[in-house]
Amino acid sequence: MDLFEVIKNRHSYRGSFTSAAVKRDDLTKIVEAALAAPSGKNAQTTEFIIVDAPELLGQIQQLHPGNKAMHTAKAYIACVIDRSPEAVYEGFAFEVEDCAAAVENMLLAITALGYASVWIDGWLRVNNNADAIGELLSVPENKVVRILLPIGVPAEKYQQPAKLPFGKRAFFNKYGK
Ligand SMILES: Cc1cc2nc3c(=O)[nH]c(=O)nc-3n(C[C@H](O)[C@H](O)[C@H](O)COP(=O)(O)O)c2cc1C
Repeated sequence: MDLFEVIKNRHSYRGSFTSAAVKRDDLTKIVEAALAAPSGKNAQTTEFIIVDAPELLGQIQQLHPGNKAMHTAKAYIACVIDRSPEAVYEGFAFEVEDCAAAVENMLLAITALGYASVWIDGWLRVNNNADAIGELLSVPENKVVRILLPIGVPAEKYQQPAKLPFGKRAFFNKYGK
């Protein structure tokens, strides 16, 4: 798939996954895409935990009440950042942005390899869920699981929802033109 096709085909997948495993080589490729992402001051702050051990998959699935993708994932990638991000440029920290850039690279790699995923963020922020996942994955106290990606081969057909037209959100040279 050409890059622009991958961008168009990427979508948030909340359906069931098939029983097919996610190959270790593919998980490595996906995280290599994350490692190649830009980061503020090239500080490379985001760390990644790749989960494919059946016992851990089951434990994560028990914690999440929500979508089928979270319940049937054959692997997860947890993106970990510092709980108190350090300023790297003029008093500014960029860890959340670093993490988001890495996650988008991974979502594109996941799509290109024929898998699907969804950006799990909101659920981690409520009811100490990020801490519960962090504990399962031995994340140190000073770090937090900021985003979780359930991964597998999609069993259902989903597609990217319609986006607003170009002229509504993008302009040449001056805002609104
Ligand atoms: C910052 C951010 C947080 C998100 N958090 C969640 C989430 O917690 N759960 C979820 O199911 N989807 C989450 N999503 C996915 C969005 O709902 C999704 O991208 C949006 O509905 C557009 O659909 P698309 O990804 O298929 O284009 C998140 C996306 C972003 C960028």
